[in-house]
Amino acid sequence: MGVKSAQTNLQNRIINRRHSPERSVFFLALLAGTALVVATVSYRANGQDFGTPFTQDSGTEFAGGSEKFEVGYEPTPMLVVKAMLKLASVGPNDFLIDLGSGDGRIVITAAKDLGARGFGVDLNQKLVELSRQYAKEKGVAHRVSFYVKDLFKTNLTKADVVTVYLHPEVNLKLRPKLWSDLRPGTRIVSHDYHMGDWRPDQIVTIDIARLDRYESILYLWIMPAKISGRWEWRMPMPDGEQSYGVEFNQHFQDIGGVVRNEKGKWRLLDATLRGDWIAFSLISEARHPMIRQDYEGHVKGNVIEGAVTLSCGVKKTKFAWRASRKAAVHPSI
Ligand SMILES: C[S@@+](CC[C@H](N)C(=O)[O-])C[C@H]1O[C@@H](n2cnc3c(N)ncnc32)[C@H](O)[C@@H]1O
Repeated sequence: MGVKSAQTNLQNRIINRRHSPERSVFFLALLAGTALVVATVSYRANGQDFGTPFTQDSGTEFAGGSEKFEVGYEPTPMLVVKAMLKLASVGPNDFLIDLGSGDGRIVITAAKDLGARGFGVDLNQKLVELSRQYAKEKGVAHRVSFYVKDLFKTNLTKADVVTVYLHPEVNLKLRPKLWSDLRPGTRIVSHDYHMGDWRPDQIVTIDIARLDRYESILYLWIMPAKISGRWEWRMPMPDGEQSYGVEFNQHFQDIGGVVRNEKGKWRLLDATLRGDWIAFSLISEARHPMIRQDYEGHVKGNVIEGAVTLSCGVKKTKFAWRASRKAAVHPSI
């Protein structure tokens, strides 16, 4: 069996899994193995038809040709579209980009129901034309656009929200582009497929048993700021001002670091990064006096601005905190 046909078989198995009970087992194993689950909510289909134009079969008559792309056409059920927009907290100030937009349902629903703006790209010209027609029918053509364009060649820098319904290997190929194009805080929602070892910030399962499938799984990622590298700052300590440094390492939102300080040894705990918001604590390894520093702030390029609370016994003092990055490191994504 050649590599290409092995890949095709694997893709077919992945696609077929969406229609089989094995799929649930596959995802359970995935989740247990990588301890990804942050929160799971379950929605139940209410049997309601969301009406034209976005019926379950909408666009399939134009899908011929999409099978030659990395991912063929399969529309997201409207119940799931609504859950995706809810998971991404889409609102009127958001600009949403759907990569591989099919009949345009995600972008059009975001505009019609939530007042968002956005665009979709798809390589299938007929689906793009259909999306433009639906946008007119729904009265949102002034808020949304659709382009015949390769998603890998699409500029994503305007996005507040990115949605995808692609395959895992396509998601993986897309990761470096998301990392380089998207601003910290941008929400990414994927229907059904994960992004490898990029831990999702939230997972939601949707019961769609009334349709021809068992469930949909939605993943949410919040794009973190880039904080790898050496950061330095000064702190007014009880025995005089001191300089501190942390060498941060980063795998998407998962961060850790090593602390350097001229006078003592510190342990870095509870490091958290969500969008541009960072928080961590330093605990002195010396017993007397036992000092704890709780930091939180916002990352703006090579500067972090925020506050630090210094606890020495029961005494707490809060100071402004400003750290600068002295050397950046580019993590492998
Ligand atoms: C599974 S459908 C999802 C449609 C829509 N996003 C939804 O959720 O209803 C995937 C779509 O991606 C499109 N597609 C596949 N590869 C693409 C590429 N490289 N660039 C742009 N679109 C692509 C296909 O034509 C298809 O319409």
